[in-house]
Amino acid sequence: MLNSEELLQVSYVEKLKEIVKKKENEMGRKLTCNVVTFGCQMNARDSEKLLGILKAAGFSETESEDADFVIFNTCTVRDNANQRVYGRLGALKPYKKKNPNMKIGLCGCMTQEPSVIEKLKKSYSFVDLIFGTHNIFCFAELLCKMYETDEQIIEIWESTDKIVENLPVDRKYSFKSGINIMFGCNNFCTYCIVPYVRGRERSRETFEIIEEIRNLVADGVSEVMLLGQNVNSYGKNLENKVTFPELLKMVEEIDGLERIRFMTSHPKDLSDDLIEVMKNSKKICTHIHLPLQSGSDRILKAMNRRYTKEDYLKLVDKIRAAIPDISITTDIIVGFPGETREDVLETIDVINKARFDNAFTFVYSKRTGTPAASMPDQVPEEEVKENFNLVLSAVQDMARKRTERFMGRTVKVLCEEKNEQDPSMMDGRMSHNTVVHFKGDESMIGKYFDVKLTEFHGFYYTGEII
Ligand code: 5AD
Ligand code: SF4
Repeated sequence: MLNSEELLQVSYVEKLKEIVKKKENEMGRKLTCNVVTFGCQMNARDSEKLLGILKAAGFSETESEDADFVIFNTCTVRDNANQRVYGRLGALKPYKKKNPNMKIGLCGCMTQEPSVIEKLKKSYSFVDLIFGTHNIFCFAELLCKMYETDEQIIEIWESTDKIVENLPVDRKYSFKSGINIMFGCNNFCTYCIVPYVRGRERSRETFEIIEEIRNLVADGVSEVMLLGQNVNSYGKNLENKVTFPELLKMVEEIDGLERIRFMTSHPKDLSDDLIEVMKNSKKICTHIHLPLQSGSDRILKAMNRRYTKEDYLKLVDKIRAAIPDISITTDIIVGFPGETREDVLETIDVINKARFDNAFTFVYSKRTGTPAASMPDQVPEEEVKENFNLVLSAVQDMARKRTERFMGRTVKVLCEEKNEQDPSMMDGRMSHNTVVHFKGDESMIGKYFDVKLTEFHGFYYTGEII
């Protein structure tokens, strides 16, 4: 059943179809579109929704940014992501000069920042349509508006309490999919801009999530990734309170579903119940992403993470005691204000004790409006660089050591795509999230194989199908 907003948007898709058809007739060819994604899995999922609407309206997708409609779905978690977007926008200008029918859109986290909007108004007037994270579901409506005017359209909402989901989606992979289970974040880690651009936590109704997954499975999906900024606090604002472990148990019951992943877990909210459910599950993958950010109690406090180094290590011990072979990955920030070499050594100590299978290591990026941006003692660039290299080499040493443990094992691998370098090889993923290369062809995509791991390449394997 569609809700009233969903029905309204479906009617805009119909209207957009008419507009697109008219343009097709004028131009004597189909209209092309290109959706460019920056940032995280949430954005990747949002881009599937954007493409779903565009295709439903009659656009055909192209790989090139020389298209009739190009939209950038942006990320603003670190400043270098913003800079990349400005650069890429500039590069669209010649295409627009050549093709007067070309329209350009910009959406996602970056547009929720007032300073970005000022800059776009002033220096990027060739961008036709700008909208934010809260009104992405109005995409069809906004496109209709865009084709009715030559003015730049800017529609940014401060927040929303609406959850609008049942609209066309064009999945990148036929056999796996992300599913939004909640939106926003209430944690306000002091370095992070996400709570400001994605708003407060809102969980989707459990039955809607289950129904969406059932439909996906019926459509050939066997692996789902439950998505939220902080999945461990799923359900807190629902009338019928359902916890994240309870949701997982319900998802487990869905016939035909083989693998369940989720992202992201905040360590402070990870419950014993979750560990128990993971331990007893046949479908939840043997991998957890558990962002550490820093191993220093002083820095963790300044970051407002609400756990200590000891809490984190105890949690890791508890998880490993229940699921000994689990892979644990993490996020680490280097260069938070006031961070000294001593703090960095504490982080390296956690890397060695927690034995991470992998870690994304980021240089701290100052985000305007966050508490950390106005903290004293911002660390000089040179010092951050040195510390970053120390952390990175500790992460890489540990990742190699940990990943080596799979050598010689026969593991279940989901075949995902053709290898980019060698067309005779396919790439797949273990439950642990480790990548495996093996001989094969495209007919194997989306299927599971038992693969013997025969060659270790540092962070991935080559194997033979048994
Ligand atoms: N600077 C650097 N890294 C950041 N992250 C979030 N905000 C910042 C920032 N201001 C990282 C955190 C988070 C990941 C998604 O991005 O490690 O877990
Ligand atoms: Fe940002 Fe912290 Fe929320 Fe993650 S938990 S999105 S790091 S504020």
